[in-house]
Amino acid sequence: MLDVGIDTLSFYVPAYVLDLALLAEARGIDVNKFYSGLGQLKMAVTPPDEDIVTMAANAAQRAVRDMDLTQIEMLLFATESGIDQSKAAGIYVHDLIGLPKRCRVIELKQACYSGTMALQLALPYLHAYPHKKVLLVASDIARYGLGTTGESSQGCAALAMVLSANPRLLALEPEYGIVTENVMDFWRPNYRNEALVEGKYSSKLYMAMLEKTWQQYQELSGRGFDDHSYYCYHTPVPRLVEKAHHHFVKINNYQHLQADVITQHIRDSLEYGRQIGNSYTASLYIGLASLLDSAVADLSGKRIGFYSYGSGCVAEYFSGVVRSGYRQALDTQHHQRLLQRRQPLSYDEYATFYSFQYPEDGGTHAIPHHQTGLFRLARLEGHKRIYEKYANS
Ligand code: HMG
Repeated sequence: MLDVGIDTLSFYVPAYVLDLALLAEARGIDVNKFYSGLGQLKMAVTPPDEDIVTMAANAAQRAVRDMDLTQIEMLLFATESGIDQSKAAGIYVHDLIGLPKRCRVIELKQACYSGTMALQLALPYLHAYPHKKVLLVASDIARYGLGTTGESSQGCAALAMVLSANPRLLALEPEYGIVTENVMDFWRPNYRNEALVEGKYSSKLYMAMLEKTWQQYQELSGRGFDDHSYYCYHTPVPRLVEKAHHHFVKINNYQHLQADVITQHIRDSLEYGRQIGNSYTASLYIGLASLLDSAVADLSGKRIGFYSYGSGCVAEYFSGVVRSGYRQALDTQHHQRLLQRRQPLSYDEYATFYSFQYPEDGGTHAIPHHQTGLFRLARLEGHKRIYEKYANS
């Protein structure tokens, strides 16, 4: 049977970051609540001239860097931070990175789950058209509001992957466990810029759906716990993933494993998330990038279990096997450069970026210049967003 899956994987984070120690100080909270209680060190912050489109275009440009673009006939854009009720954000990305006109573009939404939906939608297409490729972009800005309990679990990033037959990084396996339930743990009405959340309830659901989707996946695939070497989880906060994985080990009756073996299943996948924060749709796949980039061991042939959770809720369990020679297709140095180049913000600078209001009067408004990647939001004009690309960045 033809292998289909992830051929390249690149992410983008903005050039600004807030250390949660500064947030803790501003809120009068012990920083250990964030560092150890949530397992989160920093969160990525967008300046006003970055949005889901600029982040996505930067990630996508890297993901397609050695490709024949005419093979890409589909761009799937997963987000829950949409900038328009009608036009798909992916159309801007399609233009900014110069994809051919013969290309389908669509935006998908279901909280943090839609990246996984996009992935699953692409697989039958690639089986039918093995010479074509699909560009999947997941891009989000997590916002709960200044001073809210969710504030320390904000963040932002974009992740782009090219999906193809005979992929270089990961072959996806066909079995999956999937559950949908109508719950109100996290939502964002159209008139709000910030999400509403029942934090503790959402964490409970995250755990409950893990158990349900895993059970289904296990029954359908006939694979058990020890058929998987590593695990990637959607990562709203790293500590929740650690708790979920311990619970997972317990329900599979593997409590006898040594603590460092259990830690090793997930440790590398959480590295980038601790520095970025929640990136919603991108988060699970940034976890995969983190694992592939950080693992010292050769992961060729190793099976990874994936848990995708999107509030509201849809959850899915699936798996993939790392391809031999995968390291040659990684973008590790670029990812590390992006994280290292970031400029630390003071609390006041963070609050100023966060509170920036985009004018809504339809006039022409230049957006203040900050440090960005190759693309930036240059101005608003007649209710349109105008993006620009730096030629020599
Ligand atoms: P919270 O009220 O900020 O934190 O909520 P807490 O009071 O539960 O404390 C967290 C942990 O820190 C606790 O440990 C404390 O004991 C510990 P635990 O009891 O859980 O083991 N702690 C300390 N540790 C060391 N030193 C200290 C200290 N003080 C306390 N001094 C929560 C945390 C994640 C719920 C909150 O940040 C929140 O509401 N976040 C947003 C929602 C969220 O992330 N939910 C997760 C599951 S839902 C999901 O993943 C979907 C989502 O991504 C959205 C989508 O799908 O689009 C969110």
